[in-house]
Amino acid sequence: MKKLEQLYEGKAKKVFATDDPDLVIVDYKDDATAFNGAKKGTIVGKGVINNKLTNYLMQQLEKEGVPTHFVEEISDRETVVKKVTIVPLEVIIRNISAGSFAKRYGVEEGIVFKAPTVEFSYKSDPLDDPLLNHYHALALGLATQEEIDQIIAMAFKVNDVLKAFFAEVGVTLVDFKLEFGKTSDGKIVLADEISPDTCRLWDSKTGEKLDKDRFRRDMGGVEDAYQEIMRRVFGK
Ligand code: TMP
Ligand code: ASP
Repeated sequence: MKKLEQLYEGKAKKVFATDDPDLVIVDYKDDATAFNGAKKGTIVGKGVINNKLTNYLMQQLEKEGVPTHFVEEISDRETVVKKVTIVPLEVIIRNISAGSFAKRYGVEEGIVFKAPTVEFSYKSDPLDDPLLNHYHALALGLATQEEIDQIIAMAFKVNDVLKAFFAEVGVTLVDFKLEFGKTSDGKIVLADEISPDTCRLWDSKTGEKLDKDRFRRDMGGVEDAYQEIMRRVFGK
Protein backbone atom coordinates (compact mmCIF):
# COMPACT_ATOMS: atom_id res chain seq x y z
CA MET A 1 0.00 0.00 0.00
CA LYS A 2 1.36 3.41 -1.01
CA LYS A 3 0.82 6.55 1.08
CA LEU A 4 -0.14 9.27 -1.41
CA GLU A 5 -1.14 12.93 -1.07
CA GLN A 6 -2.63 14.51 2.05
CA LEU A 7 -6.40 14.83 1.69
CA TYR A 8 -7.21 16.64 4.90
CA GLU A 9 -5.67 18.00 8.08
CA GLY A 10 -7.83 18.16 11.19
CA LYS A 11 -7.00 19.40 14.66
CA ALA A 12 -5.59 16.07 15.86
CA LYS A 13 -5.07 13.98 12.73
CA LYS A 14 -4.07 14.10 9.09
CA VAL A 15 -5.64 11.91 6.41
CA PHE A 16 -3.73 10.65 3.35
CA ALA A 17 -4.89 8.99 0.15
CA THR A 18 -3.57 5.55 -0.78
CA ASP A 19 -3.38 3.64 -4.06
CA ASP A 20 -6.63 1.91 -3.06
CA PRO A 21 -9.62 4.27 -3.58
CA ASP A 22 -11.52 2.65 -0.67
CA LEU A 23 -8.71 3.09 1.88
CA VAL A 24 -7.02 6.08 3.52
CA ILE A 25 -4.23 6.44 6.07
CA VAL A 26 -4.86 8.37 9.30
CA ASP A 27 -1.80 9.97 10.92
CA TYR A 28 -2.24 11.01 14.58
CA LYS A 29 -0.58 14.25 15.76
CA ASP A 30 0.47 15.38 19.24
CA ASP A 31 -1.42 18.67 18.70
CA ALA A 32 -4.19 19.35 21.17
CA THR A 33 -6.94 21.94 20.95
CA ALA A 34 -9.93 22.77 23.09
CA PHE A 35 -12.94 25.06 22.82
CA ASN A 36 -13.05 24.72 19.05
CA GLY A 37 -9.37 25.51 18.59
CA ALA A 38 -9.33 28.60 20.86
CA LYS A 39 -6.88 26.82 23.17
CA LYS A 40 -3.88 25.19 21.51
CA GLY A 41 -1.06 23.04 22.80
CA THR A 42 0.90 19.83 22.51
CA ILE A 43 0.49 16.65 24.48
CA VAL A 44 3.79 14.83 23.94
CA GLY A 45 3.22 11.22 22.86
CA LYS A 46 -0.55 11.66 22.48
CA GLY A 47 -0.58 10.71 18.79
CA VAL A 48 0.97 7.32 19.47
CA ILE A 49 -1.30 6.65 22.45
CA ASN A 50 -4.50 7.68 20.66
CA ASN A 51 -3.59 5.64 17.58
CA LYS A 52 -2.89 2.45 19.55
CA LEU A 53 -5.79 2.86 21.94
CA THR A 54 -8.32 3.62 19.20
CA ASN A 55 -7.21 0.61 17.18
CA TYR A 56 -7.31 -1.73 20.17
CA LEU A 57 -10.77 -0.56 21.23
CA MET A 58 -12.14 -0.69 17.69
CA GLN A 59 -10.95 -4.29 17.38
CA GLN A 60 -12.70 -5.16 20.66
CA LEU A 61 -15.86 -3.49 19.33
CA GLU A 62 -15.64 -5.41 16.04
CA LYS A 63 -15.52 -8.65 18.06
CA GLU A 64 -18.73 -7.54 19.78
CA GLY A 65 -20.44 -6.93 16.44
CA VAL A 66 -19.91 -3.18 16.00
CA PRO A 67 -18.65 -2.43 12.46
CA THR A 68 -15.77 0.11 12.40
CA HIS A 69 -13.55 1.76 9.81
CA PHE A 70 -10.42 0.05 11.22
CA VAL A 71 -8.28 -1.93 8.76
CA GLU A 72 -4.63 -2.13 9.89
CA GLU A 73 -2.16 -0.31 12.12
CA ILE A 74 0.95 0.39 10.04
CA SER A 75 3.12 2.41 12.45
CA ASP A 76 3.03 4.01 15.90
CA ARG A 77 1.01 6.92 14.55
CA GLU A 78 -0.48 5.62 11.29
CA THR A 79 -3.45 3.39 10.58
CA VAL A 80 -5.15 2.27 7.40
CA VAL A 81 -8.91 2.80 7.62
CA LYS A 82 -11.83 2.46 5.24
CA LYS A 83 -12.54 5.65 3.35
CA VAL A 84 -15.87 6.98 4.57
CA THR A 85 -18.00 10.07 4.26
CA ILE A 86 -18.31 11.33 7.82
CA VAL A 87 -21.91 11.85 8.97
CA PRO A 88 -21.65 15.44 10.29
CA LEU A 89 -22.96 14.58 13.75
CA GLU A 90 -20.98 14.29 16.96
CA VAL A 91 -22.73 11.58 18.95
CA ILE A 92 -22.26 11.97 22.69
CA ILE A 93 -23.15 9.32 25.24
CA ARG A 94 -23.12 10.16 28.94
CA ASN A 95 -23.22 7.84 31.95
CA ILE A 96 -22.37 10.48 34.58
CA SER A 97 -22.91 14.27 34.60
CA ALA A 98 -19.85 16.30 33.56
CA GLY A 99 -18.65 19.02 31.20
CA SER A 100 -21.22 20.83 29.08
CA PHE A 101 -24.08 18.75 30.52
CA ALA A 102 -23.31 19.88 34.08
CA LYS A 103 -22.91 23.47 32.90
CA ARG A 104 -26.03 23.57 30.68
CA TYR A 105 -28.37 22.06 33.26
CA GLY A 106 -26.75 23.62 36.35
CA VAL A 107 -25.87 20.38 38.10
CA GLU A 108 -22.68 19.18 39.74
CA GLU A 109 -20.32 16.77 38.01
CA GLY A 110 -20.44 13.13 39.10
CA ILE A 111 -24.17 12.36 39.20
CA VAL A 112 -24.54 8.75 38.03
CA PHE A 113 -27.50 8.48 35.64
CA LYS A 114 -29.99 5.62 35.93
CA ALA A 115 -29.69 5.17 32.17
CA PRO A 116 -27.19 6.63 29.69
CA THR A 117 -28.15 9.67 27.59
CA VAL A 118 -27.46 10.37 23.93
CA GLU A 119 -27.17 13.76 22.28
CA PHE A 120 -26.05 15.11 18.92
CA SER A 121 -24.01 18.12 17.90
CA TYR A 122 -23.87 19.40 14.35
CA LYS A 123 -20.23 18.93 13.32
CA SER A 124 -19.44 22.44 12.10
CA ASP A 125 -16.41 24.45 13.25
CA PRO A 126 -17.78 27.82 11.99
CA LEU A 127 -20.97 27.23 14.03
CA ASP A 128 -19.08 25.84 17.06
CA ASP A 129 -20.74 22.39 16.89
CA PRO A 130 -24.25 23.40 18.04
CA LEU A 131 -26.39 20.90 19.92
CA LEU A 132 -29.29 19.56 17.83
CA ASN A 133 -32.00 16.92 18.10
CA HIS A 134 -32.69 14.21 15.56
CA TYR A 135 -35.56 16.16 13.95
CA HIS A 136 -33.09 18.97 13.28
CA ALA A 137 -30.65 16.46 11.80
CA LEU A 138 -33.42 15.16 9.50
CA ALA A 139 -34.50 18.70 8.55
CA LEU A 140 -30.91 19.59 7.65
CA GLY A 141 -30.52 16.35 5.67
CA LEU A 142 -27.52 15.30 7.77
CA ALA A 143 -28.74 11.69 7.96
CA THR A 144 -31.86 9.63 7.30
CA GLN A 145 -34.17 8.32 10.05
CA GLU A 146 -32.86 4.83 9.42
CA GLU A 147 -29.26 6.00 9.73
CA ILE A 148 -30.03 7.90 12.94
CA ASP A 149 -31.73 4.81 14.44
CA GLN A 150 -28.70 2.71 13.51
CA ILE A 151 -26.27 5.29 14.90
CA ILE A 152 -28.09 5.51 18.24
CA ALA A 153 -28.24 1.72 18.59
CA MET A 154 -24.54 1.40 17.74
CA ALA A 155 -23.57 4.21 20.13
CA PHE A 156 -25.35 2.53 23.07
CA LYS A 157 -23.74 -0.78 22.16
CA VAL A 158 -20.33 0.92 22.11
CA ASN A 159 -21.13 2.29 25.57
CA ASP A 160 -21.97 -1.17 26.93
CA VAL A 161 -18.74 -2.65 25.59
CA LEU A 162 -16.44 0.22 26.58
CA LYS A 163 -17.98 0.73 30.02
CA ALA A 164 -17.40 -2.93 30.89
CA PHE A 165 -13.93 -2.91 29.35
CA PHE A 166 -12.74 0.19 31.23
CA ALA A 167 -14.33 -1.01 34.50
CA GLU A 168 -12.10 -4.09 34.36
CA VAL A 169 -9.01 -1.88 34.40
CA GLY A 170 -10.27 0.40 37.17
CA VAL A 171 -11.48 3.24 34.95
CA THR A 172 -14.96 4.77 34.95
CA LEU A 173 -16.28 5.77 31.53
CA VAL A 174 -18.08 9.05 32.26
CA ASP A 175 -18.95 10.16 28.73
CA PHE A 176 -17.57 10.11 25.19
CA LYS A 177 -18.02 11.39 21.66
CA LEU A 178 -18.31 9.17 18.58
CA GLU A 179 -18.37 9.87 14.87
CA PHE A 180 -19.81 7.59 12.23
CA GLY A 181 -19.06 7.32 8.53
CA LYS A 182 -20.66 5.87 5.42
CA THR A 183 -18.58 3.51 3.27
CA SER A 184 -18.70 3.55 -0.54
CA ASP A 185 -21.38 0.81 -0.37
CA GLY A 186 -23.56 2.89 1.98
CA LYS A 187 -22.85 1.03 5.23
CA ILE A 188 -22.67 3.01 8.49
CA VAL A 189 -19.49 2.25 10.47
CA LEU A 190 -17.86 3.69 13.59
CA ALA A 191 -15.09 6.10 12.52
CA ASP A 192 -12.76 8.75 13.99
CA GLU A 193 -11.13 7.83 17.32
CA ILE A 194 -11.79 6.56 20.84
CA SER A 195 -9.18 8.04 23.15
CA PRO A 196 -8.62 10.25 26.20
CA ASP A 197 -9.23 13.16 23.77
CA THR A 198 -12.79 12.01 23.14
CA CYS A 199 -13.75 10.21 26.38
CA ARG A 200 -13.94 11.32 30.01
CA LEU A 201 -12.14 8.64 31.99
CA TRP A 202 -11.98 8.78 35.79
CA ASP A 203 -9.96 6.51 38.06
CA SER A 204 -12.63 4.28 39.61
CA LYS A 205 -11.09 4.43 43.11
CA THR A 206 -9.84 8.01 43.42
CA GLY A 207 -11.97 9.83 40.83
CA GLU A 208 -8.79 11.29 39.34
CA LYS A 209 -9.29 12.60 35.80
CA LEU A 210 -7.29 10.59 33.25
CA ASP A 211 -8.30 12.43 30.07
CA LYS A 212 -8.16 15.65 28.08
CA ASP A 213 -10.01 17.60 30.77
CA ARG A 214 -6.55 17.95 32.39
CA PHE A 215 -5.53 19.96 29.29
CA ARG A 216 -8.86 21.79 28.88
CA ARG A 217 -8.82 22.88 32.53
CA ASP A 218 -5.04 23.49 32.93
CA MET A 219 -4.78 20.84 35.63
CA GLY A 220 -1.25 19.64 34.76
CA GLY A 221 -0.21 16.01 34.56
CA VAL A 222 -1.71 15.67 31.08
CA GLU A 223 0.94 13.35 29.58
CA ASP A 224 0.96 11.21 32.74
CA ALA A 225 -2.81 10.77 32.53
CA TYR A 226 -2.65 9.56 28.90
CA GLN A 227 0.21 7.21 29.80
CA GLU A 228 -1.71 5.87 32.78
CA ILE A 229 -4.61 4.93 30.47
CA MET A 230 -2.13 3.14 28.18
CA ARG A 231 -0.70 1.24 31.17
CA ARG A 232 -4.15 0.23 32.36
CA VAL A 233 -5.23 -0.98 28.91
CA PHE A 234 -2.02 -2.61 27.71
CA GLY A 235 -0.45 -3.38 31.10
CA LYS A 236 2.72 -1.41 30.39
P1 TMP B 1 -18.87 17.97 26.67
O1 TMP B 1 -19.28 17.68 28.08
O2 TMP B 1 -17.87 19.10 26.58
O3 TMP B 1 -20.05 18.19 25.77
O4 TMP B 1 -18.10 16.69 26.13
C1 TMP B 1 -18.71 15.43 26.10
C2 TMP B 1 -17.71 14.38 25.64
O5 TMP B 1 -17.35 14.58 24.30
C3 TMP B 1 -16.39 14.40 26.42
O6 TMP B 1 -16.01 13.05 26.66
C4 TMP B 1 -15.40 15.04 25.51
C5 TMP B 1 -15.94 14.75 24.13
N1 TMP B 1 -15.74 15.85 23.19
C6 TMP B 1 -15.02 15.63 22.04
O7 TMP B 1 -14.52 14.54 21.80
N2 TMP B 1 -14.89 16.66 21.16
C7 TMP B 1 -15.42 17.89 21.38
O8 TMP B 1 -15.25 18.78 20.54
C8 TMP B 1 -16.17 18.10 22.57
C9 TMP B 1 -16.78 19.44 22.86
C10 TMP B 1 -16.30 17.06 23.44
N1 ASP C 1 -12.80 19.42 19.58
C1 ASP C 1 -12.44 20.47 20.54
C2 ASP C 1 -11.65 21.52 19.79
O1 ASP C 1 -11.89 21.69 18.72
C3 ASP C 1 -11.60 19.93 21.59
C4 ASP C 1 -12.28 19.35 22.78
O2 ASP C 1 -12.76 20.08 23.66
O3 ASP C 1 -12.21 18.15 22.87
O4 ASP C 1 -10.80 22.29 20.16
